[in-house]
Amino acid sequence: MLSISHLLLNNVVFLMGVKDLPIISWKIKSAKKNTHQVSYQLQIGVNMEFHHTIFDSGWVTSNESVNITFPNIRLTDSTRYYLRVRINDNYARQSDWSPTASLVTGIAFSATRAEFISGESDLDSARSHSTLLRKEFTTSNTRSVVTAYAHASALGLYRLRINGEEIGNDVLKPGWSSYHHHLIYQTFDVTAQIKKGKNTIGAIVGPGWYKGDFGYKRARNYYGNQTAFIVAIDITYDDGSTERFVSDASWKSSDGPLLFSEIYDGEIYDARREQEGWDDCEFDDRTWRRASIVNYEKNALYPQGTCTLQIQETITPKNIFTTPAGDTVIDFGQNFSGWVEFDVVGNAGEKVTLTHFESLDACGNVYIDNLRTAKQSIAYILKGGEHESYEPSFTYQGFRYVRIDDYPGKITAEKFRGKVIHSALEMTGRFACSNQDLNQLHHNILWGLKSNFFDVPTDCPQRDERLGWTGDAQIFARTASYLTFTGNFFAKWLRDLAYDQTEDGGVPHVIPDVMSLHPNADVAFPHGTHSASAWADAAIIVPWTLFMMYGDKAILKRQYVSMKSWIDFMTRHANNHHWGYKRQFGDWVALDAEQGSYYGATPNELTCMAYYAYSTLLMSKIAKVLGFINDSVFYGQLHQDIKTTYQNTFFNKDGRMTVMTQTAHIISLYFDLVPCACRDQTVDALVSLLKKHDGHLVTGFIGTPYFCHALSQNGRIAEAWDLLLKDDFPSWLYQVKAGATTVWEHWDGLKPDGTMWSAEMNSFNHYAYGAVGDWLYRSAAGLEIDEKAPGFRHAIIQPNPGGQLTWLEAAYESVYGPITVCWRVCKNIGDHNIINLNVSIPPNTTASVILNDVLALRDAGEVAFTTLDKSMTAEIGSGEYQFSYEVDMA
Ligand code: BGC
Repeated sequence: MLSISHLLLNNVVFLMGVKDLPIISWKIKSAKKNTHQVSYQLQIGVNMEFHHTIFDSGWVTSNESVNITFPNIRLTDSTRYYLRVRINDNYARQSDWSPTASLVTGIAFSATRAEFISGESDLDSARSHSTLLRKEFTTSNTRSVVTAYAHASALGLYRLRINGEEIGNDVLKPGWSSYHHHLIYQTFDVTAQIKKGKNTIGAIVGPGWYKGDFGYKRARNYYGNQTAFIVAIDITYDDGSTERFVSDASWKSSDGPLLFSEIYDGEIYDARREQEGWDDCEFDDRTWRRASIVNYEKNALYPQGTCTLQIQETITPKNIFTTPAGDTVIDFGQNFSGWVEFDVVGNAGEKVTLTHFESLDACGNVYIDNLRTAKQSIAYILKGGEHESYEPSFTYQGFRYVRIDDYPGKITAEKFRGKVIHSALEMTGRFACSNQDLNQLHHNILWGLKSNFFDVPTDCPQRDERLGWTGDAQIFARTASYLTFTGNFFAKWLRDLAYDQTEDGGVPHVIPDVMSLHPNADVAFPHGTHSASAWADAAIIVPWTLFMMYGDKAILKRQYVSMKSWIDFMTRHANNHHWGYKRQFGDWVALDAEQGSYYGATPNELTCMAYYAYSTLLMSKIAKVLGFINDSVFYGQLHQDIKTTYQNTFFNKDGRMTVMTQTAHIISLYFDLVPCACRDQTVDALVSLLKKHDGHLVTGFIGTPYFCHALSQNGRIAEAWDLLLKDDFPSWLYQVKAGATTVWEHWDGLKPDGTMWSAEMNSFNHYAYGAVGDWLYRSAAGLEIDEKAPGFRHAIIQPNPGGQLTWLEAAYESVYGPITVCWRVCKNIGDHNIINLNVSIPPNTTASVILNDVLALRDAGEVAFTTLDKSMTAEIGSGEYQFSYEVDMA
């Protein structure tokens, strides 16, 4: 049977709020091997039944099933559209129509009378409280509401209420972006909430990232000094007529019970100040003040579509205990981002106070020093009565433990729930193997992502930082894109990266760039706020990674000017290809740093030139993909020239590197900067540098992500496995053995003697070193992209059994459908092992299967393998396959 399992718009089934027709993809299912699409028909209708279509492609002869665009279709604002597709395949079969996908279009706020309205005045710039806004409006008594869509955003953070009901399941709206250029709004289907006649719309607004107090050089009012809210509700009646209700000066406002709310510091909520029924009709708001209008550029408003922040999981306390110092502490058993919801019964004025933190100290006491100035504290003052429950609105915490400072009544586990919050991302990677520590490492990497893909890719979720550090995002991007579908998440962030670039192409250290918005930036950041090698290269590497993983050229097109201007920035600051600019982070937090320093031993001169070469090479490839041939030739030549200078500078006449660090060797190999004749020698040198440390890494942000690749891509698979599976200090599994549930910022965050790295910078939830995760998928499982056919249109399946593992299973949900690889080491025959390999790839894709070091092929079904050097290779079409072969695994 041939069918379409999913029809996806920007890779999701329902898109709420889009400007233009999104990219369209579908996943094909077929029991027959080697299935290909030969043609498709796509329809867009205004109802589920497709009685009336606004577009019918007719049968289009094409084998493309992902990233399809129809640039000329114009859509009407605030309207739901339905899409379906069917296909013909190479076996002359026709599928049924696909499941229906739908989207709701957004609006151009600038063409509406909606205003940014505020419950605050200029005088409130130092306040971190919440305000309430409300308005009653009346819909037709004679006509029925057929659809109602609300489009809303805020300067600050907002919650939307209609007739006493919370709207949407997203939190911390509208998220964080480079607000002054790119303020996201959300679109909600509120048809079920709008009644005939009288209705009330309410909003709760807090400071958040917009005007709150944050950044590690604490400041506030980065984007403005007054919170505000904007909404437009579009209603369509059964006779086809429409009506729009908007935020304007006729709204009323009041202070809310949320007395204090800050991203880092938490909240203070006085339930005694709640105003019953404030967000419903018949409420007496005569004592409320008029909302004021805030002038803000409405053209900056941009629809989110998908990937909002949401409560993704609820976890329960694993343990409640008393520390040696006498504190009562809840252990949720998992480090994560989010907040605690709790139930309480008590008298008016009694309090619940919670402090959230990541780790216990060596004595088992509360360790909050690494939070620096972030208070991570929630205080709730009871109104008194039968039962109260609370969860925060406009803050979040990074924590595993909660200290209960105040709580009336008996403390029991059922009263506390950990709400895990992160961007709503489709989980695409699955990994399991016979080594439990490795499984835990995979879990920790995934939870590092869950904790830090928080609308913005943040460095860490707990201390007074939580910023979109470009370097961290860049090194983790490919791992993240195996674990989850990151296309929409990064597309939003990359827009901000382009907006926040300096006029001459410099890329800020953090995106959104709050460093340069700091009211006292020159003093706070005397070494500059942008353009550090490997950090700023996110401008090129992240879009390239998305293109590789999803095959969508649109992201390259959109970022092209941004990418080019970053390369040109480096060129302008280069002298014979040696470039530098103000503060460089180099091989950040490497263990070969001087005692107590963050800067690894590999010189900036080398890391800057290596990344300059690598990004320029990618730029040349990107220009070629987009058909900009002159640019491609230009950057190709520039890359060659940088590479020659690199080799002349960092390799001796005898072929040895002049910088004897692990990182220097790793990036020279991985970025293909080693002279051909010196490759083996460089690999040998890297292996001896590893031996020098008894098989341990001493690398930082620059070397760590590629260490295993630099070994396995150069014939040292056994060494890559050994490195990965080391479990004494320092190593990935050392953290696992120490009980980590996420990945640490420092190899020596917690040392074997129980002491810790200085609390000044010691996060236990930093995803950066989790960048090894892509080795698990790409090399251990062997699920690799073919650069010539990105998005896994053609995959390279080249598993690397090893590390004494007896089995490994990995699955990746590609844009075409699931790819799975499972290898099992079955039998020993003398020094030989038999590997049973199961592979499946989705319809409309092909793959090369490459088996390493085969001594004998035992079973390949009907697949014909050819021998190539020490490996065997075959081409396969879609379907499921089993292979069995003998290898020497002594
Ligand atoms: C962050 C890092 C970041 C670095 C840059 C730190 O404070 O937590 O992850 O990349 O600064 O130097």
